Amino acid sequence: MPVALGIGGTGGGGAESKDCGTAVREKDAKAVEALYHVMASIENKLGGGEGVVGVYGSITRTGIQAVVQCLVETCGMDEYSRLVDIGAGLGRPLMHAIVHPGVRSSWGVEVDIIKWEKAQVFIQQTIATLQKRGLLTKDVAVPTVDCMPVEQVTSLEPHTHGYSFWEGIPLEGKRAFGRLFAQAATMRAIAVVQRSFRRRDPAHEMRKLAFGPVRLMGSFPVKMSGSGRGFTAYVFHKNAYTQPLRHVAPPPAETKREGRIFAYQPPVIRMLRARKAKGGASACDDANAAHGRRVQKEASQEGGDGGGA
Ligand SMILES: C[S@@+](CC[C@H](N)C(=O)[O-])C[C@H]1O[C@@H](n2cnc3c(N)ncnc32)[C@H](O)[C@@H]1O
Repeated sequence: MPVALGIGGTGGGGAESKDCGTAVREKDAKAVEALYHVMASIENKLGGGEGVVGVYGSITRTGIQAVVQCLVETCGMDEYSRLVDIGAGLGRPLMHAIVHPGVRSSWGVEVDIIKWEKAQVFIQQTIATLQKRGLLTKDVAVPTVDCMPVEQVTSLEPHTHGYSFWEGIPLEGKRAFGRLFAQAATMRAIAVVQRSFRRRDPAHEMRKLAFGPVRLMGSFPVKMSGSGRGFTAYVFHKNAYTQPLRHVAPPPAETKREGRIFAYQPPVIRMLRARKAKGGASACDDANAAHGRRVQKEASQEGGDGGGA
């Protein structure tokens, strides 16, 4: 039976607020709950997760669950996927993804040596405890974290999905992540948590950070664990191919005319639209459609053309 985990209240989302992916199987929900109990007790023994550089902390369990579920529903994250967390802290989101949806591997990059040292113990002990309780198999791929700034990472391959709660990561670090994401042929999607983009087009802002063409699949408010501070989670799918503006040949079957632009529709969008046409719609689909309408409305109010490609 699906369990609605919900998303922890409001805050930070503004007009973009839309639920995205809140249903998870009961068995997975129980394993995720156990994971967070185990992580809380091990973090207490470690004396907290603080380090010496940058911001410390994670978003709440329900927030991370919503991000994971949105990546699953709209960006194909599954047991074959490999997740990378830029600014991994103690490795909470990496372990969450190992438990649900059970990704094949997960890797973190963390600049702070103190957090990195704590992460080594934190991850080993958490995974060992879950294995002892029969919640993870013995052959599970234990998440790894490297101690280095993202600016020194040379490639994200063979990873497929990315996450970053990038509050406190400098602009140069975000740009380095963007370049790596755009260059990695295996990377399909990225979720970032930050303060709201408000009236700016999130996909355009990501493009400015060197991520290349991406499509917003969902955005919703999340809260920081402990302080309850509000942030917004944005989930983007890589647009592997963008049509030129002046397209003279007949568009291929998977493109759809939007104004003067023939927009490529990734298979997931076609699938979601087909599902909607049959009477069903996911929260992400609604979020995406609402976002598109908002961007179009803002563009027409400003007399622009929507900033296409
Ligand atoms: C808000 S924390 C998020 C921690 C973790 N992802 C989580 O959600 O639990 C951001 C992390 O990014 C790290 N960080 C800051 N600048 C960085 C950089 N240039 N390269 C890699 N990590 C960085 C910080 O040390 C901090 O641990």
